[in-house]
Amino acid sequence: MNSSSFNAEEHKKMLQSYFNGQGFQRWASIYGNDKLSTVRSTVRQGHAVMMDKAFEWLQKTGLKKGAFVLDAGCGTGLFSIRLAKSGYRVKSADIAAQMVNKTKEDAEKAGVAGNIEFEVNSIESVSGSYDAVVCFDVLIHYPAEGFAQAFSNLSSLTKGPMIFTYAPYNNILAFQHWIGGFFPKKERRTTIQMIRDEEMQRVLGKLGLTVVSRQKISFGFYHTMLMHVERR
Ligand SMILES: C[S@@+](CC[C@H](N)C(=O)[O-])C[C@H]1O[C@@H](n2cnc3c(N)ncnc32)[C@H](O)[C@@H]1O
Repeated sequence: MNSSSFNAEEHKKMLQSYFNGQGFQRWASIYGNDKLSTVRSTVRQGHAVMMDKAFEWLQKTGLKKGAFVLDAGCGTGLFSIRLAKSGYRVKSADIAAQMVNKTKEDAEKAGVAGNIEFEVNSIESVSGSYDAVVCFDVLIHYPAEGFAQAFSNLSSLTKGPMIFTYAPYNNILAFQHWIGGFFPKKERRTTIQMIRDEEMQRVLGKLGLTVVSRQKISFGFYHTMLMHVERR
């Protein structure tokens, strides 16, 4: 999809319908304890490595217990529940009601639902004021133009740290993305949209954000760039 053909509303509807249906089953099993194929287990493991690093970075920012954190595109709630268990207050927002319901169910089981506000909402529309914003493996589904819009909304919701992932553009990743089409249909990844470095610099510059840390996480079929940015 090139940026001139990008339609924000249609894109949102497509993601919502995917993550409320087939995508819910797929990602709930990757983020859960089901037995997985080799390809998907590398995604589960890579995602766990990313979350551990993100949690470490968030704690290093000195965010106090009781601080309010937005987990935008919370999925099945893995990070939200981890935050709540560590004494943070959390808003868990996701465009897919199925995902929010699963987060709530698991938070109740973990005894931390009282520390979490659950909301079915998109990263473009979620509002409020937070001490930190996290957004993992959501922006990877946005082409440059949509990325800038959604990212701009998220960054307006905090004066503190923003920790998120995106898919950086590089030839190897582009190649893997391309050969992804040769995998059996059931093994294909959700479409990943890659952001060029220049585009990322442009978006951060426009919003007055500066990079504190950046780390590429690559594990089997899981590839992402984890980034921590703050206001200058
Ligand atoms: C690959 S999952 C990642 C879930 C979670 N952040 C994690 O890392 O465990 C992507 C999630 O983003 C959500 N999502 C996709 N587009 C979204 C949007 N525009 N606004 C909010 N959530 C969105 C999906 O419903 C799905 O739960």
